Amino acid sequence: MHNILSDYQTINYLEKKWGSSFYLLNTNKLRENYKQINSAFKSRYRNFIIGYSYKTNYLPYLCKELSKLGAYAEVVSRLEYDLAIKLGEDPKKIIFNGPLKSRDDIFLALKNESIVNLDSIYEVEFVKEYALNNQNNQIKVGLRLNFDISENGVSALQEGYELSRFGICVENGNMENIISELKDKQNVKIVGLHGHFSTRNRSVENYRKITETLCFLAKEHFPDSIEYIDVGGGMYGELPKSFQTNAPTFDDYADVICKIMNDEWGNFSKKPTLIIEPGISMVANTFTFFAKVIETKVIRDQNFVLVDGSVHNIKPTMHRKNLPMKIVASNEDRKYGIYNIVGYTCMEKDYLAHEVQGEIPNQGDFVSFENVGAYTIVFNPPFIKERPSIVAKDGDEMFVVRKKETLKEFFNENIYAF
Ligand SMILES: Cc1ncc(COP(=O)(O)O)c(C=O)c1O
Repeated sequence: MHNILSDYQTINYLEKKWGSSFYLLNTNKLRENYKQINSAFKSRYRNFIIGYSYKTNYLPYLCKELSKLGAYAEVVSRLEYDLAIKLGEDPKKIIFNGPLKSRDDIFLALKNESIVNLDSIYEVEFVKEYALNNQNNQIKVGLRLNFDISENGVSALQEGYELSRFGICVENGNMENIISELKDKQNVKIVGLHGHFSTRNRSVENYRKITETLCFLAKEHFPDSIEYIDVGGGMYGELPKSFQTNAPTFDDYADVICKIMNDEWGNFSKKPTLIIEPGISMVANTFTFFAKVIETKVIRDQNFVLVDGSVHNIKPTMHRKNLPMKIVASNEDRKYGIYNIVGYTCMEKDYLAHEVQGEIPNQGDFVSFENVGAYTIVFNPPFIKERPSIVAKDGDEMFVVRKKETLKEFFNENIYAF
């Protein structure tokens, strides 16, 4: 088995086996991430659960590995819910979030005793109906809450949105209304509060506000029944050295969040479980994308390196920041210069890297792009070309965990009319 990817022979071997572009998943790195997050939090607050955010990368093999380590599945659609079940996840270890849940979704999740966080008022009606039909069952739900986390009037949210559109509003009385509606139902208990905010700076300060607010509201409304406080995802994980370097570590986040949990619940005999829902921080650094150089060409005086890949494979949001890259090649004979790396699609903006300075890759070399585990394989549109294979590396072993698509899978005959 091949265990080193930096030599050209291995690349040739992989190309023969898995094509001229492919992802490589570093399973050991994934385990390391899980262990780092888990020990940062668990050493400070014992009742702690990681709910892995499936949507960030729901490669079945990856989800299963995390489940083996103890992660719960955090899902935001029936598709993801059913995938977790298909992977053998205990339904009680599925956290069902998200703005869109049908009556059938809620009925199934409640029957299975999954952790259900209601995001909107319409879901309350489904819970009430289920409770009425199942009067002998004790039904538990959580509420995803929406409250202000701005700093001196400055929005903390991604893209500078003034408000988050998710969850049940605390400020306008919606939360209180739902609480009193559900309190009427004898067999329904609100046992959890959830607050996820996708913020611009992923700062520790945001988590201070989220944790404090959720604990305050839990104590005010359900001091006897609260079972969990879920502060969501949105943290930084390990970043490439070329990116921002003063990002908080898992220990920094855990310090603040767990201190509040300990201060707030220290005197309680039954302390609520703390849940976090990491996505990017768990998987971004576990994937590398390899693409073969098809040609290096000059237009006017600029160098364009065409690879068998696309910006969609590595940067679904098409941001302009270059990812850490390496050239994997057999010979050392390359010119120096400035070059762009461009992809196979017909879009002008299909740039995998802009204005790179250094050795210009030659035809037949491979370029590897690191840190591409988040939102790539789930956001890779079926555009122009089939999706590449994914190879996992676990210790000395390498094996395919998703084959390269063929025409048959791309145009699945079960769903397309020909
Ligand atoms: C409810 C919820 N939990 C967790 C996450 C994961 O966030 P991140 O990948 O930033 O850790 C998201 C992402 O938007 C989310 O919406």
